[in-house]
Amino acid sequence: MAVMVEMHDDPVIRALEADPEAFHARLRQEAPVFRLEAWGLWLVTRYEDVQAILRDTDNFTTGTPASLLYDTFGAHMLTTDGVAQERLKSRFRGAFAPAAIRAAMQETVRRLSEVLLDGLTGPGVAGQGAAEWRRQFASRLPVQSILSLFGLPLEEEPRLRRWYDGFERALANFAWREDVRRQAREDVAEFHALIQRHIDRVRGLPDGSLFSQAVHDNAEDRLSDAEIRQNAAIIFFGGISTVEAIILNCLYVLVGQPRVHAAVRADRSRLPDLLEETLRWLSPVQSATRHVARDVRVAGVTLKAGDTVNCMLGAANRDPAVFSEPDTFDLERSNARRHLAFASGPHFCLGSHFARLQALTALEQILDRCPDLRPVAGQPLVISGVEFRQPPALHLAWGASS
Ligand code: HEM
Repeated sequence: MAVMVEMHDDPVIRALEADPEAFHARLRQEAPVFRLEAWGLWLVTRYEDVQAILRDTDNFTTGTPASLLYDTFGAHMLTTDGVAQERLKSRFRGAFAPAAIRAAMQETVRRLSEVLLDGLTGPGVAGQGAAEWRRQFASRLPVQSILSLFGLPLEEEPRLRRWYDGFERALANFAWREDVRRQAREDVAEFHALIQRHIDRVRGLPDGSLFSQAVHDNAEDRLSDAEIRQNAAIIFFGGISTVEAIILNCLYVLVGQPRVHAAVRADRSRLPDLLEETLRWLSPVQSATRHVARDVRVAGVTLKAGDTVNCMLGAANRDPAVFSEPDTFDLERSNARRHLAFASGPHFCLGSHFARLQALTALEQILDRCPDLRPVAGQPLVISGVEFRQPPALHLAWGASS
């Protein structure tokens, strides 16, 4: 994940905000390493350069106290590099591997999604209705799924949501406002207290949950309680807006592209293709931030030690050098899975399989239960956001139209 940025009254930023895909296309062609003065950082937009930077841990680092991610959450797998990072990440990787996450969470996610859909449509196949899918479904499933993964009760959903919103503000606090930092410190402390209670509980009574496994690691590998809590924060933060966005973006594609909708309705085995091409075409996380460790040249431009670089994942995912006709959503695209929506290299998303599990479960149930899903008349389909790209709201109806 990259830092989010405050908007400025700057023509370049206005262009980026108005039509990021068109702006990225110009940069890829004319200035693939571009200095964005208003944000004081570089934008890198070509697939090859983005991938190379994300894999190059000699010249680029995530770990600097100057980053808001570090200021908010301290040292964890995304603010450390090399051996230190691997030591932290390795303690969680097993739990997020495809078979492990499926075994631990598939049934739970299915049930959570079903209950949320019951709330929208009533039990079983819906007659007809309409809903705002972000607020009523997509923003809730990831929070409930994370709570279950952490072994915490669903009653904590409002508190987790409040903390999450505060963390988002702290990560966009480019003015380093002290009141925002203080609030974030208080929220992080409350979050840590909740996780610590859980750690203490599973220390005496292992329950197979994510932290139970970390707490009961063998002595020489075991992380300290503080390390477990700090990594819990980034796992929690990484897994909410991102999953919300991918569910909404897939629904946006379905209702906006009738041929795609018909293809996946006719053959549910196409759902993974829908998901991967949506990750490419409408990447939920648009950038990954790195800091230059020592002077280095990228595409003929010298980046100085200490500079900040935003690797533009969304732009790389539309690079015609890798994806033919990149602006077309193509369910048949044979190399869609080469997308960089989950980044690349040592910081590749820990939760990618958990994200896929949630999105595919939700989509399958929505297709089963909501026939003829379509936009509500008079509610335009809109995508917004520079860092997180998704519909700000998605009003969809289903069932026979009246
Ligand atoms: C579609 C959904 C998701 C997207 C698009 C996404 C995207 C990303 C990206 C781009 C990164 C790399 C950041 C960087 O290199 O600077 C990342 C890292 C990470 N993500 Fe995700 N993510 C998603 C879902 C999740 C979920 C569900 C979880 C956990 C429950 C999660 C946890 C993490 C963690 C812990 C990292 C840091 C990994 C490391 O530093 O080694 N993500 N994610």
